[in-house]
Amino acid sequence: MSSRLDAIDFDSEQHLREPHADYAIGRRDSPVYKMPGKDLVMVFGYDQVLEALMKPMVFSSRNEQALLGPSIHSARCREIYARGWPQVETLLTNDPPSHTRFKKLVNRAFTREKVDALEGHLVGMVDSLIDRFAAAGHCEFVRQFAIPLPCTVIAQQLGIDEADVPRVKVWSDAFIELIGSALSEDEQAKRAEQVVEFQHYMKARIDERRTAPRADMLTDLLNARVDDERPLDEAELLSVAQQLMVAGNATTSHMLSGGLLTLIDNPAQLARVRADPAVIPNMVEELLRMQTPTQGMWRRAVQDTELGGVPIPAGTMLLLMFTSANRDEKYFPDPDAFDISRDFSTAHLAFSRGIHTCIGMMLSRKELVVAFRRILERLDDIRLTPGVERPRYIPSPLFRGLHELQISFRAR
Ligand code: HEM
Repeated sequence: MSSRLDAIDFDSEQHLREPHADYAIGRRDSPVYKMPGKDLVMVFGYDQVLEALMKPMVFSSRNEQALLGPSIHSARCREIYARGWPQVETLLTNDPPSHTRFKKLVNRAFTREKVDALEGHLVGMVDSLIDRFAAAGHCEFVRQFAIPLPCTVIAQQLGIDEADVPRVKVWSDAFIELIGSALSEDEQAKRAEQVVEFQHYMKARIDERRTAPRADMLTDLLNARVDDERPLDEAELLSVAQQLMVAGNATTSHMLSGGLLTLIDNPAQLARVRADPAVIPNMVEELLRMQTPTQGMWRRAVQDTELGGVPIPAGTMLLLMFTSANRDEKYFPDPDAFDISRDFSTAHLAFSRGIHTCIGMMLSRKELVVAFRRILERLDDIRLTPGVERPRYIPSPLFRGLHELQISFRAR
């Protein structure tokens, strides 16, 4: 039976930039939708996304292309990668029991006490970024704030020198482009060189910490042990460091810029936050629900099964759409409305759920709360810069974020 969904081109630029109306059709018509002519199932409904997340032994995260994309099939790139360390399946692309070991080890470096201890430091970083543009009365918020903040935070945690922070963005983008963009062989090779450069750079930082431990996450990762397990070896450490760098950068950056645009677009809600800053943590949850920077994630069925009553043969790829689940009318009434006092007794899925729940969620929540608090304390009358084209979302199936965001304001 054909459905209204069959008429939607999920690869079109229009869908990729503004997908919400299409997903609403998906939730109504086919919460679990087998794409015609493809071995691919898109999952739109909250209950069905959650069910798949909670069955990791049926819906596997293993995906040989997920870390370096199609470049693993290029002889030229393989030669380049041979000068570095092998990619190890550690977290995002791993299943139990191996995933369980890595998660326990890495969680040791991400305790609430460690994240809470960073708060004063985060305020300092946020203020120094705002200091650089406050007097001008305007800025390009993506480049001047939303990108550098998470890059600086993760760089410090991974022991990357301050002078090398701009390289964090280059390295993160290299990984993301290898996975998510159609690249020529030359372009792949350039990114592959950057991957190997990152590995050698991090290897040197790891060696430094072996002889001179510091109070940072890299030292914690180096020393992490669970029971009497062996510590992480070099390739494992590099793989974990790589995932922490890549997973935390674009996501947090997209949240900052998309979140600020949502506030600008909703002046009545913004006025409520200014009147009562205590709601900022709940506002951040609502922004996470509405923005959902990781729009969806892959899983592969490893056995014949079913989801939401739809038969799923072994080998089928599924795309679990967190973006759609987070606007499921069943749990989030009037889901397209931004409401800072929304009740989150049913939690949103922006950080996923189950064994792959985001490791960095406490850190990024803290970054977001501190950043929005200081922005609202220091900048009044924030608006889109007049005469500039309305900001647009990057056309990507996996990530949701803005290219740029030109804002004007009055600094206090
Ligand atoms: C707003 C910011 C962020 C969002 C929206 C986000 C979202 C996500 C999502 C949806 C997943 C789960 C994917 C799945 O189920 O397959 C995930 C996993 C992960 N995230 Fe985040 N993330 C954010 C920030 C961060 C930060 C700051 C870090 C590190 C410092 C980080 C590190 C990771 C890692 C290592 C995983 C893999 C966990 C596993 O597979 O067990 N993320 N993230």
